[in-house]
Amino acid sequence: MKKSLIGLLFASLFIFLSRAAVQEKEYDVPYVSTPDEVVAEMLRIADVGKDDVLYDLGCGDGRIVITAAKKMDCRGVGVDIDPQRIKDSRENAVRAKVTDRVQFLQQDLFEANISEATVVTLYLLTSVNLKLRPKLLRELKPGTRVVSHDFSMGEWRPDKTSEVSDYYENHTVYYWVVPANVTGTWKWTMPSSAGKKRYVLKLDQQFQQVNGTVFAGVSEMPIEDAVIRGDRLQFTMEQKLNGLIVRMLFEGRVSGNSIKGSVKLGAEPRADKGRWRAKRDPFTITLLDSSNKDLN
Ligand SMILES: C[S@@+](CC[C@H](N)C(=O)[O-])C[C@H]1O[C@@H](n2cnc3c(N)ncnc32)[C@H](O)[C@@H]1O
Repeated sequence: MKKSLIGLLFASLFIFLSRAAVQEKEYDVPYVSTPDEVVAEMLRIADVGKDDVLYDLGCGDGRIVITAAKKMDCRGVGVDIDPQRIKDSRENAVRAKVTDRVQFLQQDLFEANISEATVVTLYLLTSVNLKLRPKLLRELKPGTRVVSHDFSMGEWRPDKTSEVSDYYENHTVYYWVVPANVTGTWKWTMPSSAGKKRYVLKLDQQFQQVNGTVFAGVSEMPIEDAVIRGDRLQFTMEQKLNGLIVRMLFEGRVSGNSIKGSVKLGAEPRADKGRWRAKRDPFTITLLDSSNKDLN
């Protein structure tokens, strides 16, 4: 073979490899599409409906957003850093006749405004999910559902998982509900036989796991069975009232620095219920995910 041809081949190989290297560097995750069976399961587990706004971060050819818009009639936004993927998604949306309900943005997913989402779908990598986790917990409304194909969120344990098999392999679908941040010091008063009694509750939270202690006068009581699901908080505590140990069940809806709800005295279903309204000192809030402080 002529020397010049060999040189050309080497040069082409060099250009090809250096382009591939740039591509790898530019994108956090390569393009691989989610099989249709798995898309269907992701939409099912998140119970996507007409009123949802679904964001697919790293949307590829737009299949998750387009399927949701077509089957559930909801709105959707796909974000992808690769202009070719956005072009394909827009063409696919035209073919599926859903352009009135979907939008595709060429953007870095870490910079996308995701605050209006009620469902977020992901097919990234665990390392990318972990980097994204603080943004999800900080920017999404409590109650937003997050679904990931095959990759977990590390210590943020899923609320549900399911398995799907296609012709080639098994896939895991992970599902989380974004919890409200209830960390910090909450205060309220409640009537007692000796007038109004003041309560102080100090809460710690690790994702959807909540622990805390209630202080009332000289008493200090750990809370039990604490559950946060979206913006709904529930816990029990035992308190001595008129010489008797009474179990109190607190339930409430968290909105910013206030919780409004009910408190039930005793375990019976028809036990007395009173109103419960707590306020938080905003300076006592801590981050739900401090694993990557730069992104918080
Ligand atoms: C594994 S594919 C998933 C495609 C689609 N979500 C699906 O499930 O079929 C990941 C996609 O993320 C995109 N991507 C990678 N890094 C990104 C980034 N930083 N911002 C936005 N998109 C990104 C890639 O271009 C690719 O299309």
